[in-house]
Amino acid sequence: MITVGVAGAGSIGAGLIRLLHTSPAARNLRLKTVLVRDAAKQRPELPAGTPLTVCPAELTDDPQIDVVVELLGGVDEPFGIVSRALSQGKAVVTANKNLLAERGPEIFALAAERRLPLGYEASVCAGMPIIRTLQEALRVDRITALEGIVNGTSNYLLTRMSEERASYAQCLADAQRLGLAEPDPAYDVSGQDAACKAGILATLAFGAYVDCHRIPTSGIGSIALEDVHQAEAMGYRIKLVAALGRPASGRVAAEVAAVLLPRHHPLASIRMECNAVRIESEGLGETLLAGRGAGPEPTSVSLLADLLDIAEGRARIPTAEHPFIASVADFEDRQAVASRYYLRLAVADRPGTLAQVAGFFASQGISLASVLQPEVPDLAGSSLVPLILTTHTTDRRRLDLVLATLAAAGWGRSVVLRIREH
Ligand code: HSE
Repeated sequence: MITVGVAGAGSIGAGLIRLLHTSPAARNLRLKTVLVRDAAKQRPELPAGTPLTVCPAELTDDPQIDVVVELLGGVDEPFGIVSRALSQGKAVVTANKNLLAERGPEIFALAAERRLPLGYEASVCAGMPIIRTLQEALRVDRITALEGIVNGTSNYLLTRMSEERASYAQCLADAQRLGLAEPDPAYDVSGQDAACKAGILATLAFGAYVDCHRIPTSGIGSIALEDVHQAEAMGYRIKLVAALGRPASGRVAAEVAAVLLPRHHPLASIRMECNAVRIESEGLGETLLAGRGAGPEPTSVSLLADLLDIAEGRARIPTAEHPFIASVADFEDRQAVASRYYLRLAVADRPGTLAQVAGFFASQGISLASVLQPEVPDLAGSSLVPLILTTHTTDRRRLDLVLATLAAAGWGRSVVLRIREH
């Protein structure tokens, strides 16, 4: 029997606490204390009699508590609680990707020094066992590339926009109601959540700490229904993809961005809040993992599995060779990789515009693959109309020069997305 303290009783914390009460797998786990910020708040989602405290030391310094589960969100306060718990000899389980992405090197160093287990399966892709896969099954293979859909909220939005023509705002409200989105959903749709997870995955896959703030990141905020449907008409699906590679240089090439994936690509069929990660490694070749990547239930399942590993003495204890501690990764400029592009521009609807735009691209040696100016029935007072273009393969630097010229002409770029060919 091990005794557990839980920090945080939001949607994930409440999900775990319910599972600790109901799952037969949790029979050897005793929940002692739950840390909350507001003890007076009504919490009908928690089992009656759940013992609450507002004092972190009642978790971190209670000699009866063996494991602290950190589910608060944020970085500074969780860092204080996790480091105190470790220094008091307690194992830690966390679902906090921000904590690991930002302060992971310090936390893993402390866990290694104290020889204590640190479970974090739930920090990336919720219920999908990607951390275990990288740390256990694939640890003897050399991973050369990894790409994934790692933000459930964005994938949920893009799927519903595609399948139901539902509005972005309606889908986002539903994602919040279902407990998929972060407290500030801008963190999901801006790509930052995916970049944070990508930093953790790249660290584990490539064996050196990857600072998520150095990953070029963009999100899905500018994508409109017309982009989703236009991409589909061309044989693609728009997905927010974290792409990570380890080229021959040994550096890390990383990018988080919405891209057009060919319809037959393994990540193109991942729907709603599901996540998927595709790994390329020298021995195994291609490995694909898919599962529920957001929401209280799948996250709680991963948390409980980490707790059971600790209770049964099977949890991994970090050493000084742990990727978060061993070294820091250098980056290569992945944005320099040549690609095809999809663009939706906003241009003036007057004679000569198309010729002028085509001239801008020609001046940079960029060949256009397709051009579409859809009919706009009601301009609603705007003098600009959409112009949808795809290019043949070009480097991003040339494209940026074209976009700068367009901006100087007073025209806008609404969307610029890579087109992936495989
Ligand atoms: N908000 C996250 C997502 C879930 O939508 O994927 C937790 O990481």
